Amino acid sequence: MSTDVNVKMEALAGVDPDALPLQVKDLHVEFRTRNGIAHAVNGVSFDLRAGETRAILGESGCGKSVTAQAIMGILDTPPGFITGGEILYRGVDLLKLPESERRKVRANRVAMIFQDALSALNPVFTVGFQLAELFRKHRGMSRQDAKARAVELLDLVKIPAAKQRVNDYPHQFSGGMRQRVMIAMALALDPEVLIADEPTTALDVTVQAQIMALLAELQRERNMGLVLITHDMGVVADVADRISVMYAGRVIEEAGVNDIYANPAHPYTKGLLESIPRLDLKGHELSAIKGLPPMLTNIPPGCAFNPRCGYAQDVCRQDPAPPLYQVSPSRTAACHFWKEVKGDE
Ligand SMILES: Nc1ncnc2c1ncn2[C@@H]1O[C@H](COP(=O)(O)OP(=O)(O)OP(=O)(O)O)[C@@H](O)[C@H]1O
Ligand SMILES: [Mg+2]
Repeated sequence: MSTDVNVKMEALAGVDPDALPLQVKDLHVEFRTRNGIAHAVNGVSFDLRAGETRAILGESGCGKSVTAQAIMGILDTPPGFITGGEILYRGVDLLKLPESERRKVRANRVAMIFQDALSALNPVFTVGFQLAELFRKHRGMSRQDAKARAVELLDLVKIPAAKQRVNDYPHQFSGGMRQRVMIAMALALDPEVLIADEPTTALDVTVQAQIMALLAELQRERNMGLVLITHDMGVVADVADRISVMYAGRVIEEAGVNDIYANPAHPYTKGLLESIPRLDLKGHELSAIKGLPPMLTNIPPGCAFNPRCGYAQDVCRQDPAPPLYQVSPSRTAACHFWKEVKGDE
């Protein structure tokens, strides 16, 4: 793989092998719709190290997928527009690259898997053909070699009888197996960064756990950076190193996974944690966060979470939104009252 990476490095000017595989800085995305401007991503920043899993967590509609689409360069434009920020792959700002260069990054260095494998795979070609095409197109392999690599990949993602299954069409696989095929497609060209957008929500709980374990194993073996997008705090606990919690298009808390679980510093994070079902509290009511997230065409002034927040005071209802306060050297939270929320350790 190392020679492969070196070849890839040469192909893209300005790449600094010592820079982080992915850095998102102050990203802004808006959708210009008939009902107004939806401010979907409002200054999101995060870093990703090699081999690290960064979870991006938040309720439906908070801008998680839009962030991923902006990174991958697959935003629906129009109506979506990136209006500010930087997306750096090893120091190179992808937003400044011409589309042809950007496509190289997308195929080779930063890959993505989606929630719904069936719609991401092409129904009219066998999975073997779709995998082999990647090797033929990007690696110039012969038909025969490419097919052999396709079988290896299906083996890698633990699809039983890979040699036979390589000739099957996507609809002939179960949901979990299809998700494995998509992981195989994403890993085919040895990306350094994998973005997984809700990769297991369409699956039942046991299969979910198997897929997450597979992802974690492959990530370790390849020292790949993983951005795991999810609304499920339970999934995050097992696999993530760091968490960015999003609310209404902003990161409102950023910390190591243990810090967040032991001591959330933002009321929204605290609410999310309290809404995880716990066996030891069986019979108790789940305390879900009251109310709904705001419309992104009409985000309230001040802290976007204030209408749902038990800690809110006047200062929270006025612009500007709270900045990301430094809670400790390695964590931040965008709440004026983070000390009260976090309590004593
Ligand atoms: N194609 C689009 N056209 C118009 N607005 C859009 C479009 N895609 C996204 N948006 C806006 O961006 C917001 C964030 O969407 P996004 O898909 O990022 O949410 P999410 O956090 O991934 O939610 P979920 O957990 O449901 O997947 C949406 O609520 C919507 O206002
Ligand atoms: Mg989404």
